[in-house]
Amino acid sequence: MLSYRHAFHAGNHADVLKHLVLFLVLRYFNSKNKPYWYIDTHAGAGLYSLLDEKSQKTSEYQDGIQRIKSAGKNLCEPLAAFLQQLNCILPDDNHYAGSPYIALHTACSGTKHRLFELHSSDFPLLQQAIGDNKNTIIKNTDGFHGLIATIPPPCKRAVVLIDPPYETNDDYHLVQKTLQNAIKRFATGCYLIWYPQLNKIESKSLPEKLCNITSRYLHAVLTVKSPSQDGFGMMGSGMVVINPPYVLHNELQVALPQLTCLLAQDSSANYKLDILAS
Ligand SMILES: C[S@@+](CC[C@H](N)C(=O)[O-])C[C@H]1O[C@@H](n2cnc3c(N)ncnc32)[C@H](O)[C@@H]1O
Repeated sequence: MLSYRHAFHAGNHADVLKHLVLFLVLRYFNSKNKPYWYIDTHAGAGLYSLLDEKSQKTSEYQDGIQRIKSAGKNLCEPLAAFLQQLNCILPDDNHYAGSPYIALHTACSGTKHRLFELHSSDFPLLQQAIGDNKNTIIKNTDGFHGLIATIPPPCKRAVVLIDPPYETNDDYHLVQKTLQNAIKRFATGCYLIWYPQLNKIESKSLPEKLCNITSRYLHAVLTVKSPSQDGFGMMGSGMVVINPPYVLHNELQVALPQLTCLLAQDSSANYKLDILAS
């Protein structure tokens, strides 16, 4: 039984980091003028109303995308381009885009989209948000298995987002195992893995395990606050990108300091950016 609903969290600091990185990767892939696939193993509902009661209950977007919007004209190029893209593709200011919606409207035309969403309530919402499109297949099945069955794509180029809810410890293990299998089948894919920064061993050890799978990775971490006294709650999040576009490191070197200032919730906010490219 799945209980996680992304609508409670849409547009929060973690979405901003994840979707900024996704946008920058897709922008680079578009610049190459060669076909590619976009695969989203955990797609969510696609489009979120910030006026929805779930969103209003937590108001997490207020400390996320709302702060980016408020910075307006003072944004650095990568953040300004990301915000401009959101403004172009969203129906209005009261909505926020999920990863498959950003990809559908950012990837160049002709890109094949393969989306997986297991939740019986979010799946029809995803179908509605994405609409009928001959290049898109949306499945109400497990995204970890779906990825392995989908790769390698015929064109041998793909951006893959792996973004599970990490509601149970199984997800940490499955991310690692699935990435290992995926790289065996399709070593040159560009894999983006999001993970939460939590005060638990599974979360702390995951990035190193993921980075050890390959010799070409980028690792970005955005911490927005210190751990709460009870040890619960998300302090921030990270993105591991396997086979990152060469421009991504420079773009994040520009964007992360500003993102940290804008999204800081206390004085312990900071970022880290590592790259290994052999
Ligand atoms: C963090 S949310 C995804 C958010 C989305 N990627 C975005 O950035 O907008 C995780 C989603 O994965 C779905 N889910 C959980 N386990 C799954 C599985 N094994 N396969 C596919 N979807 C799953 C959940 O229902 C939830 O909608």
